[in-house]
Parts: sequence; structure tokens; C-alpha cells
Amino acid sequence: MKLKGYRKTMIMLALVLLVPPSGSFVAGNQQLIAPPLAATSANEVGSSVVFRVLGNVYPIGYYYVEINIGSLSTPYYLDIDTGSDLTWLHCDAPCEDCPKTPHPLYQLKKDSLVPCTESVCTSLHSNICDKPTDHECHYEIEYADQGASQGALVKDVIPICLANGTVYGSLLAIGCGYDQQGSNGTTSQTDGLLGLGKGKASFASQLQSLGLVQNVIAHCFSSNGGGFLSIGEHPVPSSGVVWTPMSRNSLFDESYYSPAGSTELYLGKQYIGVMDLQVIFDSGSSYSYFSSQAYTPLISSMMKDLAGKPLNITKEDNTLPICWSGAKPFTSFDDFKNYFSPVRLRIKNGWMSQVQVMEIPPESYMIVSRPHGNACLGILNGSEVELDDNIIGDNFFQDRMVIYDNEQQRIGWAPADCNKISGLFN
Ligand SMILES: *[C@@H]1O[C@H](CO)[C@@H](O)[C@H](O)[C@H]1NC(C)=O
Ligand SMILES: *[C@@H]1O[C@H](CO)[C@@H](O)[C@H](O)[C@H]1NC(C)=O
Ligand SMILES: *[C@@H]1O[C@H](CO)[C@@H](O)[C@H](O)[C@H]1NC(C)=O
Ligand SMILES: *[C@@H]1O[C@H](CO)[C@@H](O)[C@H](O)[C@H]1NC(C)=O
Repeated sequence: MKLKGYRKTMIMLALVLLVPPSGSFVAGNQQLIAPPLAATSANEVGSSVVFRVLGNVYPIGYYYVEINIGSLSTPYYLDIDTGSDLTWLHCDAPCEDCPKTPHPLYQLKKDSLVPCTESVCTSLHSNICDKPTDHECHYEIEYADQGASQGALVKDVIPICLANGTVYGSLLAIGCGYDQQGSNGTTSQTDGLLGLGKGKASFASQLQSLGLVQNVIAHCFSSNGGGFLSIGEHPVPSSGVVWTPMSRNSLFDESYYSPAGSTELYLGKQYIGVMDLQVIFDSGSSYSYFSSQAYTPLISSMMKDLAGKPLNITKEDNTLPICWSGAKPFTSFDDFKNYFSPVRLRIKNGWMSQVQVMEIPPESYMIVSRPHGNACLGILNGSEVELDDNIIGDNFFQDRMVIYDNEQQRIGWAPADCNKISGLFN
């Protein structure tokens, strides 16, 4: 289980990076580089880029995309993370502490390093760089799951296939993560992370700055695994989407997507007596977290609902903190879903009296553990992992399109069949 996106700290430093002489430099194909579209206002850009999503909530714990990077179009798996800006790869610079990755490590090319004076660097951290000419843009990110990544920004060609068929080799800033604390000897499902946060350095913001697409991100994660991710206006439906204003203020770190209004939590029709919850939409987290203030009453209500039902809490399953066993192992959600009520988030519309409801069925917030066949709760106690905020993660997002509209500063969602992606690709 991972909890990316939500970061503890983000430090950008201007440091001199010691890079070994690179014998394997491959020149970027200049013809591929997208020309910045002169004076194109965002509204005139009508295209989008759509990626096929791989993965699931359980047992994989990741939804990720395959993206080709570099002039040789090398494929990498990137974890979709709407909770942070920086896209980075486990990187051979050489790497201090890299895990075993699905693809060979990204190779650092020394002349692709981004100087710390570039705006993409300063947007990640406003650290002053005193000797601009010989300073690279160094970064350090610590995630809430104890993971950490250190590296330097580089620019490399990423072929972007617009939905209208045009392919651009866009020169985008990504992180070369050459020190991945605590990852030594582990195996990673992904080669890195696709940062889709609000900030200027995010993948979507960079594509928008190039004039290719609008900064509208939509993900659709299927409970059967897979789905799609789009950047741009299409295929966001023009109707049927529930919208709520996006928080603009810096109540949180700027990068977090959070509704402007506060949220109330319900279990079925029952109000869990906490008002004014702030929630963060973070696809970098596999499960969802509530702080103790909301989590503790939610669990008591759930326990009350389950009294007299043929389910017992089991301590013999470490899949997730709370698991229930039945008379015999469960094989599907149908075996127990009637014992649980949907979790409902009632999100207030800022100063307006409107309320938008996101209903999470038990099939989304529970998992069937393997091989035990228990029903385990995918809502976790944030206070136990020192989170102060409430995080809506991948499990709550399943089987709906979730839209982060940075152009109109709103967050939306709509029920969707996320496996129906034919027609999105041409
Ligand atoms: C596709 O969209 C891009 C960006 O809007 C535009 O520059 C390009 O001409 C379009 N290509 C086609 C074939 O319409
Ligand atoms: C990583 O693990 C290998 C093999 O166990 C070991 O030789 C190496 O020193 C470790 N590197 C770090 C940075 O801990
Ligand atoms: C959640 O975690 C906090 C802090 O560790 C703890 O005080 C609280 O009892 C926990 N709630 C539940 C229901 O386990
Ligand atoms: C739950 O535990 C009680 C007491 O140990 C036992 O009698 C009952 O059969 C168990 N129920 C299930 C569904 O396992």
C-alpha cells in the first residue's frame, strides 16, 4: 500500500550534482520539439491526450500509465499522482538506493540538466540560486509513506499523441531521482511518478504552457482494473458531471486538489458527527484516510451496523488494519456488501448553500483479501500515520470519471464505465 502525493516536505535546492561523464548521450531530435503556439489562449486549444491506465486498487495498489520518454521513446510505467507536481523517474546518475523497476533505469544525460534559474525549477521551490551558470535544479521530496526521492531536474523529449492524431515531441521537465531513500533491495511496480498537481511544474501544466491542451485532468479507474487518463477537454462529458469549486487558497500546499467547501461524512443515512472536514483528492494514494476525529466515529457507526451480522473482526489478516471474516472465505463483494452502507461525502459549495454528494459503495471502499477471503476496510486512520488531513484515494475514485479542471477551478465527478476506452483513442 502506498501513499504518494501527500507530501511531508518538498525541498528544492540548488546544488552542484556530481554526474559521471556520460558516454551514452543520445542527441534529442530537434524536429520533434513542439513549437510554442504563438499567443494561443487556453480556450482555443481543443485537443487532448489520452493514456490507457493499467493497475488496480488491490492487489496491485497502483493505477499507472505507460509513457515513452526520450528520443528513443523508451517506455516507463508512471504512477498517476494528482497529489504532487513533479514527474520523476528512478534514474541512473548513478542511483544510490533505487528499487528494482519494471524497465531499465532512466539514464541521465548531463546536458539535459535544467539550470536552477529556469521557472520550472523556481516554481517547485523558490530557493534562490546564487551561481546560476553552474547550478542544477536539485530536489528532495518526502512522501507520507516514508518514501523519499532526491534528484535533479532534466528536460527530455516526451512524444505526446493528441487525440486528433497529431504527435508532438514535447520537451518537458522531469526529475531524475537518483537517491530513493529506503528503496534499496525493494521491487517497485512503477518506474516513477506522473505528477499532475496544481503547480506550474506538473505534467499537465507543462503541456498547457506549450499550448497543446487545456489544463483539465480526468482519470477513470475501473474496479476491474485499468481505465484511462486524459489531459485536455475531451473526453470530459458536457453534462452529467457534478462540479464543486476547487480550493484556491493556501489552506493546503498549493499543489493539493481540494474542494473549496467543507465536507460532511455520512454512513448510509447516518451523519457521522463531524463537520467541516477538508478533503484532498489524491490519486497517489491507494486507499482513503480520515483523521482520527472523523475515523473514530465512522468506525463506531460501522461496528454498530455490523452487530448481529455474520462477520467477525479477524486479527489473522494483515492485508489492511481492519478485516472481517465470515463463516467461510468470501469470494466476491456480493458475499458481504449488503452488511455495509455506502459512505457519503457531502461537499458544500463554498459560500453557496449547494451541496454535492459523492457516494462510495462498499464495493469501492472494501476489498476481498487474498488468499484469506476476508472483507477488509480500505478506509484508514490517518492519525495513525501522522496525517492531519483527509485523503480521498484511488479506491473512492473507482468506476467514475474524476475531473480536475484547473482552467475553471473546479473538481467534478460522474459515474463512468472506465473500461470503455475505445473511441477515446483514434
Ligand atoms: C491537433 O491539435 C493541435 C493542437 O490544437 C493542432 O495544432 C493540430 O493542427 C491538430 N491536428 C489536426 C490533424 O487537426
Ligand atoms: C543496497 O543493497 C546492496 C545489496 O544488498 C548493497 O550492496 C548496497 O550497499 C546497498 N546500498 C545502499 C545505498 O544501501
Ligand atoms: C486513530 O488513531 C489515533 C492516533 O493513533 C487513535 O487515538 C485513535 O483511537 C484511532 N482510532 C481508531 C478507531 O482506531
Ligand atoms: C463469530 O465468532 C463467534 C464467537 O467466537 C462464533 O460463534 C461465530 O460463529 C463467528 N461467526 C462467524 C461468521 O464466523
